[in-house]
Amino acid sequence: MTPTLVTDRLILRPPQQGDAEPIARFLNDIEVSGNLARVPFPYHLSDARAWLRTQRPDLSPQEANFSIELADVGYVGHIGYQPAGDTAVIGYWLGKPHWGRGIMTEAARAAVNWYFASTGAEVLYSGVFHFNAASLAIQHRLGFTETGRSTLLCLARNAELEHIDTILTRERFLETWPPALRLGNAAS
Ligand SMILES: CC(C)(COP(=O)(O)OP(=O)(O)OC[C@H]1O[C@@H](n2cnc3c(N)ncnc32)[C@H](O)[C@@H]1OP(=O)(O)O)[C@@H](O)C(=O)NCCC(=O)NCCS
Repeated sequence: MTPTLVTDRLILRPPQQGDAEPIARFLNDIEVSGNLARVPFPYHLSDARAWLRTQRPDLSPQEANFSIELADVGYVGHIGYQPAGDTAVIGYWLGKPHWGRGIMTEAARAAVNWYFASTGAEVLYSGVFHFNAASLAIQHRLGFTETGRSTLLCLARNAELEHIDTILTRERFLETWPPALRLGNAAS
């Protein structure tokens, strides 16, 4: 069951149909969708509604998705998992008006903490397209390390792009983030 996670500034909760309008507004932006592998551009309200219909709160942690709400603002973005072997790949995005305030660092720390606490997985995968320095900085800060390069289709750009592959071990995450800091804000 996907829970609701609360951090200093954020609520991470299961997606709901009411999220369709902000999802469509934020993803219909090539600066967001163009950094993601599987999101088309243009992105329509019907795309958001169709994706939301695939979401259920009883999905396993390897398939869980969270809507990110910022206090006093509401829906600002998304973080979620896709199955990969015995574990998962984590992916995330934030609407552009909300970039640069440490929001995704705070959300990702909570989501990763929950993932390792809820599964027996020893590792978690992620990665970034080669030009995505901000996302790579988040992953380094969380404790991810680079494992190599690959090519991955970016649906929004309709192009195969160089991708930096990354991995986070349970051990490295727990060493990097002692319990008292795992749900704090970005300045912690
Ligand atoms: C990537 C994204 C999630 C970042 O969210 P955010 O809340 O703005 O990120 P944060 O503020 O938590 O952290 C950004 C980090 O990148 C750093 N950063 C930002 N822009 C940077 C740049 N151009 N070059 C290098 N580092 C940069 C910041 O200094 C910060 O690192 P620090 O905490 O060590 O100082 C957001 O920009 C986004 O949604 N982009 C489009 C979708 C996307 O790229 N998703 C990820 C796909 S892998």
